Amino acid sequence: MNILLTGGAGYIGSHTAVALVEAGYAPIVLDNFANSHPVVMERLQRITGQALLLERGDVLDTPWLTEVLRRHRPAGVVHFAGDKAVGESVANPLKYYRNNLGGATSLLQAMSAVAAEDPSQPPTLVFSSSATVYGDPVRVPITEDFARSHTNPYGHTKLVIEDMLQALQTAQPHWRIGALRYFNPVGAHPSGLIGEDPAGIPNNLMPFVAQVAVGAREHLNVFGGDYPTPDGTGVRDFIHVMDLARGHVAAIQALLGRGESFTVNLGTGRGHSVLEVVAAFEKASGRAVPYRVTPRRAGDVAQCWADPSLARQLLGWQSRHTLDEMCADAWRWQRENPNGYRS
Ligand code: WQD
Repeated sequence: MNILLTGGAGYIGSHTAVALVEAGYAPIVLDNFANSHPVVMERLQRITGQALLLERGDVLDTPWLTEVLRRHRPAGVVHFAGDKAVGESVANPLKYYRNNLGGATSLLQAMSAVAAEDPSQPPTLVFSSSATVYGDPVRVPITEDFARSHTNPYGHTKLVIEDMLQALQTAQPHWRIGALRYFNPVGAHPSGLIGEDPAGIPNNLMPFVAQVAVGAREHLNVFGGDYPTPDGTGVRDFIHVMDLARGHVAAIQALLGRGESFTVNLGTGRGHSVLEVVAAFEKASGRAVPYRVTPRRAGDVAQCWADPSLARQLLGWQSRHTLDEMCADAWRWQRENPNGYRS
């Protein structure tokens, strides 16, 4: 059964492709490699033992995207493609509105056109949303009914796409839509063949810590040591990327089975502080991770972690991996791929 993954060569997309093959699906990777690398396809073949189909192009190209959907007639689509750097979105909002909102609109139009030609197969979509839609939560853990807000254009695009999907669902109730609100994806496939490959200086904590541990960076800046948290540093719900990938498989299975649409958190339900991550990474790598506490980063919240019980109830999914395993897998990927996919 074909599943089309837009942005399928990216960090979450590539790990989801592995999990889909493990579950007996045939993922088709669609990517323009703007934020990913063609070598991922070879790595996926080494992991899965299969040469996955690749459609190279841009989701903004609606005629091309429609033709791809018509050719493959996937049972479902997982939409990963888009830009995701919070800081960049503040500096360059139009890129984010164009790529993220334009890309989602283009995909929905293409799916609508192809679904109209084949009413026997209702359009089925899993959307990569984010805990960023919760803004600064009033308390933790976070449930899906919490108020949404945005503090940056990236988060705004996720929130608007969720609203677009809701409007489409109202207008065309036969759509089967699952929105997955990721918390903090980290780690890598245990093979060490695929992982997070940020361009330039990593914005996110785990890849930065890994680069300090391997000696590529001198020290970590801990953004704020005066938060109202147990050790004063930020607390987040770090979730292993393979747990997240399996959450997408569970979402596809639920949509193709029961067929009801849903929006769920994909998190572990546990918060860990920045300093806890540093300690866990030192333990996993056997390397020191020197750090300096610096002022808070603009836009950061003190605490953010999920109540994942709705995903367990609706999808029969829950995370399995510990922070130690996340750090061990992130370390293996960093150590064996010092230049990411460019080595
Ligand atoms: C985690 C913690 C930082 C870097 C972002 C996006 C979110 C999602 C996940 C896409 C915070 C601290 C970080 C560093 C640090 N992405 N930190 N030094 O900000 O929770 O979420 O990534 O969906 O949308 O907003 O993740 O990894 O940047 O930060 O001290 O060099 O680590 O202050 O407390 P964040 P993060």
